[in-house]
Amino acid sequence: MKLFLDSALTDEIRYALDLWDIDGITTNPRHVQASGKPFIQVIQEIGDMVAGTDKSVSTQTNPHYHEDYQAIVEEGRKLSKLSPNFVIKIPSTEHGFKACKILKEEGIRSNLTLCFSASQGLQAMRMGAYYVSPFIAWKEANGDNTDQFIQDMIDIRDNYAFETQILVAAIRNGRQIATAAALGADIVTTSFDVYKDAFAHPFTDLGLNRFQDYWDKTPYE
Ligand code: E4P
Repeated sequence: MKLFLDSALTDEIRYALDLWDIDGITTNPRHVQASGKPFIQVIQEIGDMVAGTDKSVSTQTNPHYHEDYQAIVEEGRKLSKLSPNFVIKIPSTEHGFKACKILKEEGIRSNLTLCFSASQGLQAMRMGAYYVSPFIAWKEANGDNTDQFIQDMIDIRDNYAFETQILVAAIRNGRQIATAAALGADIVTTSFDVYKDAFAHPFTDLGLNRFQDYWDKTPYE
C-alpha cells in the first residue's frame, strides 16, 4: 500500500520525501491556507519537489464549482498544464463525476474527494476516476462502520475491474492506516503528525532506553 502525505507545507513534504520515501502528496484548501502562500504558488512549489518522479500531487479545484462541471473541467485543464504530476481533486458530486469523465477522456487524471458512500465511489469509478478518496475519520465520528465502507469500495472496484485506485483519506491514527492496509486499500493519505505517531511506539523508546543501559555497561571488544 502506498503512503501519501496530506500537506502543503514544503518543509514537511521535503522531510517526508527524504526520510519516509513518501509515495505522493495530497493537498486541500485547509493545507494551502495554512501554508500562507497563494494557491498556484504553493502547488507549483510542491510540483517542483516531485518533478521527474512518478509521485502524484492531488490539487484541489475551486469547491464553489461543485454544481458546474464546465468550470471544474476548465480549472482541471489549467492545473494539469502546470505539472505532469498533478492529479485534479474534484468533489464527489453529480457535476464532479461528469467533470471527471470529460477530463479522463482528455487524459487528465482525477481524484474524487469527499467520498462518503460506496455508491458515490461506484459512480466515481464508472466515470473514470484515477483515485477515489473515501473519508474515514469524518464517518467514524458520525458512528459509521468504516471498515465495511473501505471493503465495499475495494469489492466494487474488483467486481467490475475498474482501474480506479482506492485512496483512503481523513486518517487520524496508525490503527486506521493498518486497517486500510489489511483490507487491501491502494493508498492512504494523512498528515505529518499522524505519520510521526504511527511510525513510533512508546515501547520502542522504552526498549531503547533499557538496551542503551546494558550496552553502556558492556565492553565492546
Ligand atoms: C484528503 O485528500 C484530504 O485532503 C484530507 O484527508 C481531508 O480530511 P481531513 O482534513 O479531515 O484530514
